[in-house]
Amino acid sequence: MKTMHKLLIFALLVVGRVTCLDNGLALTPPMGWMNWQRYRCETDCVKYPDECVSEKLFMTMADRMAADGYLEAGYNYIIVDDCWSAMERDEEDRLVGDPIRFPSGMKALADYVHNLGIKFGLYGDYGTYTCAGYPGSLNHLELDAQTYASWGVDYVKLDGCYSDSDTMEAGYAEYGRYLNATGRPIVFSCSWPAYQETAGEHSNYEALKKTCNLWRNYGDIQDSWSVVHAITAWFVQHQDRLAPHSAPGHWNDPDMLIIGNFGLSLEQSRAQMTIWCLMAAPLIMSVDLVNITPAMKDILLNKEAVAINQDALGIQGEVIIYTNSIQVWRKPIMFQGSDKETSYALGFISYRDDGVKYAMEYTLEELGLNNPNGYDILDVFTGMEWTATSKIKVRVPPSGAVFLKATVR
Ligand code: GLA
Repeated sequence: MKTMHKLLIFALLVVGRVTCLDNGLALTPPMGWMNWQRYRCETDCVKYPDECVSEKLFMTMADRMAADGYLEAGYNYIIVDDCWSAMERDEEDRLVGDPIRFPSGMKALADYVHNLGIKFGLYGDYGTYTCAGYPGSLNHLELDAQTYASWGVDYVKLDGCYSDSDTMEAGYAEYGRYLNATGRPIVFSCSWPAYQETAGEHSNYEALKKTCNLWRNYGDIQDSWSVVHAITAWFVQHQDRLAPHSAPGHWNDPDMLIIGNFGLSLEQSRAQMTIWCLMAAPLIMSVDLVNITPAMKDILLNKEAVAINQDALGIQGEVIIYTNSIQVWRKPIMFQGSDKETSYALGFISYRDDGVKYAMEYTLEELGLNNPNGYDILDVFTGMEWTATSKIKVRVPPSGAVFLKATVR
């Protein structure tokens, strides 16, 4: 009987190992750089040698990540999005990099970034084709997971174009088991809720947590404030349903940071950083790191902002007040290594367009900050510090943000 009991426990452990995501990865929201938002599917390296999706682009960006402080700040994954592969699999049915744009092959690129201390991510698609029409993984799930692992892939973004959304829950789980079976620690970024939620269905987040380290919940980001607003509005509308599923190891993903590109002003860029940090969202930049302006770089590298995003509690902040087109966000954060929710990050995000800074005043109680001795306040972007014992007053720029850290006294 004792032996039977032991066998049963052993069997349960083995089954548990292969059916649940237990890779110990992404204990804080993943950070990195991905090409899609800035470079999309540009494949013409003759016309646009510095902007086409090629090994040269990723080597250049990896160099900048390592040399310009991004890696040190925590941005440690470089992720190759769609359009990297050849249109045909090789004679052994394996995916291969496009021979013109990735002449050294994907393993060589992985080695290159690894040598800089950066981890390597790669896009794939659960369906028959990728969203841009390259070969998908359906019918090759195991082979593709093994191929990625053999190249040294540390992060897979598995998209869901050209597949049936009803099969995704089981199909992604199957792919996740193949990833686990390779024995290589690989962050698994899933896109299946994006397909279900944009079709008005509610995804099964309990299932997602068992399979994925992060998941795209909603539609693609585009290079505009209006899309940042629309994505944020959707996440706020569904925050009661989504936020409880955010925790170390598994994260809601509102898509890439577009900071430093064409569409956002300085204040709007600060606002996107503020929202993404408060949401404990993955911080995946998608910007030309060679030509980025110092002001945009400062936003991405802001230590306090990143620390709030990376807070070990991993709690997704929520909007607690929405008034006069301004959202007030609150995210509990740790205090000096304590595991209690004693300190907070606060964000005031304005969607106004009336040209003046909007003055707001709240008592600590109204913000749910109940420490009798008050809080030490830090303005994340200006560096200003003060003590609040009864009220917090801010002036919020139109389509911009005020981002505060309130540390318990
Ligand atoms: C989908 C994804 C994007 C990007 C493209 C690539 O639209 O949501 O993030 O990966 O596919 O084709």
